[in-house]
Amino acid sequence: MDLLAILKRSEGKTLEFKRDRPFRSPHSGMLMPTYKGNKGNLLQHWVLVELVELIRTGMSSAALLCFIDAHAMSPYASPSGQGDKVFGRAQSTLPGQRSLYEQSWLELRKNLRVDYPTSALFVRHLWPGGIKFVLCESDSRSVDDIAQWHQSFAHEVPMDLHFGDWRDRFRRGFSGGDGVCLVSFDPFMYDRNGPPRRPNPGNLYPPDLELIGEALRDLKSVPLVLQLSTYSANNSNSLPDVLESVENTLKSAGLKRYAAVRANGNMMSLVFTRDFAEIQDANLEQRFSDWLDRVPK
Ligand SMILES: C[S@@+](CC[C@H](N)C(=O)[O-])C[C@H]1O[C@@H](n2cnc3c(N)ncnc32)[C@H](O)[C@@H]1O
Repeated sequence: MDLLAILKRSEGKTLEFKRDRPFRSPHSGMLMPTYKGNKGNLLQHWVLVELVELIRTGMSSAALLCFIDAHAMSPYASPSGQGDKVFGRAQSTLPGQRSLYEQSWLELRKNLRVDYPTSALFVRHLWPGGIKFVLCESDSRSVDDIAQWHQSFAHEVPMDLHFGDWRDRFRRGFSGGDGVCLVSFDPFMYDRNGPPRRPNPGNLYPPDLELIGEALRDLKSVPLVLQLSTYSANNSNSLPDVLESVENTLKSAGLKRYAAVRANGNMMSLVFTRDFAEIQDANLEQRFSDWLDRVPK
């Protein structure tokens, strides 16, 4: 069991929090930002870390990296519940297989406030050159946490922090520039049959992909890598159908499929690139599956 996640010290007393309900602040009783602690987290970040490394080795020098995350999350989130076993085992055996992901995860946890690192933390930890962040987050407490985390290095990493739906930020477009761009979408799911009458803003739907394509048009001058994950096949969203739907729409924005990394019948992380000839084939799906199989049972 992950003691760091359940034990928090307050005024000298050790407080124990049940992990099967939303985390509440011991001071205010308010709901705090959470992360799931499941195979989906492993998939999202194992792939992300590999992409950062692939981009780094594909660039001749440490270029400026623009990292755009539509679903940024709090760097100080707590687990929302029990999580799943494989996540717990990976976390409690760090650095495990000593993959770049596990080593970075362990190093980032040296900061006592970080229980599970966000994508932005992994990116900052791994990228050797300059970084520019565009982070979108719809939860106010998570936005406050991101702003607080950023304070100590704001002089070296500019950040455009959008509080609200990522769609509003993307409608404003992005200014082109130098370097390379990594764009991340980590919704609950991609629903190729949506949007329904009452859309869930945490999901992605086909018109969202058109908006993404439109927004990324302005970045035509820079090599681009895009990661988009989905975690549910509900509502007739088998992974092959999702892949076809996403690929067809992003193709019209000039994005080419680089990888489809499946974790099971529900979870998949898709990677697309544009103008990134240097990125080598890294066999991500097989390597993720091998890595996952070797997490202790
Ligand atoms: C699964 S977490 C994302 C994790 C993050 N990408 C990472 O791996 O570090 C989902 C986050 O997205 C935020 N979110 C959900 N829907 C959103 C939306 N429409 N626009 C912006 N943020 C959203 C949630 O508040 C939550 O913090």
